Amino acid sequence: MSQQEMTTPQKKRIFSGIQPTGVFTLGNYIGAVRNWGALQDEYESIYCIVDLHAITVMQEPAALRANTMRAYALMLACGIDPKKSVAFIQSHNPNHAELSWVLSCSTMFGELSRMTQFKDKSARHADNINAGLFTYPVLMAADILAYNADLVPIGADQKQHLELARNIAVRFNQRFGQTFTVPEPYVPASGARLMSLQDPTKKMSKSDENANACVFILDDKDTIMRKFKRAVTDSEAEVCYREGKDGINNLMTIYSCVTGKTMDEITAEFAGKGYGDFKSAVGEAVADHLAPVRSEFARLSADKAYLNECIAIGSEQAYRMTRKILSKVYRRVGFVDHK
Ligand code: TRP
Repeated sequence: MSQQEMTTPQKKRIFSGIQPTGVFTLGNYIGAVRNWGALQDEYESIYCIVDLHAITVMQEPAALRANTMRAYALMLACGIDPKKSVAFIQSHNPNHAELSWVLSCSTMFGELSRMTQFKDKSARHADNINAGLFTYPVLMAADILAYNADLVPIGADQKQHLELARNIAVRFNQRFGQTFTVPEPYVPASGARLMSLQDPTKKMSKSDENANACVFILDDKDTIMRKFKRAVTDSEAEVCYREGKDGINNLMTIYSCVTGKTMDEITAEFAGKGYGDFKSAVGEAVADHLAPVRSEFARLSADKAYLNECIAIGSEQAYRMTRKILSKVYRRVGFVDHK
């Protein structure tokens, strides 16, 4: 797609940032990531691996580098097509950090102090409560506002940060004149929420201490089968969706998401069969569903030259899109033109 087409004005712009830490969970995949492929046709999409954000907590440099490349490959393996979307690494576009500084001067200390993620993270990393951890949401606002993004797909944990980005945009616009689009959260239509396999009253989370609670999209088939076989259910022996059957409800939801079958169809399929058969079927179906992502990830990971080329093209596009907006911001705040 040409640059001309990429900036077709009638298409809304979507921006999302992905941390280069860990692998997506089945919950992330079903709830969000697998829709990305479809979104790129409908929206002008920009996806960025946020390595600048990652260093707000301690990172081992070699691991950060490897994880960033891995996250990029994973993003493509999940269906982001670098010819349709702008896909790049945050630190490759200096405009994010530059805009972040300007926006930090329109952000109040009190606002940042109220961010629940800052409070949580500073409690968890008491030995490293650095200024970046505090100003993290300003950088996130810069990520979004630098592109004048209309929509931002985010999980519940990022809602407060997006709200702050909106407040910063409105405040800047009021003070300096209309400059930024005020972004809206993007909530996907089919947003199934997957629960832990070990405690189905809790959300499936990659940071769960119990390794069997969560399926990762790069888990191999044996691991997936094992996790489903150990999934917590109930003492009945009936595969049906009903209040109080949290474990079975969750497994049915997962099975439905990966096979497209309805709850009634699933109940009929497993009538008279035990939970053991059902769990194996869910494991098989999930493993089959994730197999193409795993093989595409392996193929891409082996082709560093291709990945590097995509990254270079993506950051060049990202730079050009944001430099125009940043120049406008600099003029608005009263900086002397750079001749
Ligand atoms: N803070 C987000 C997270 O932890 C990642 C992120 C950074 C982001 N910049 C963003 C998400 C911009 C959406 C838009 O998940």
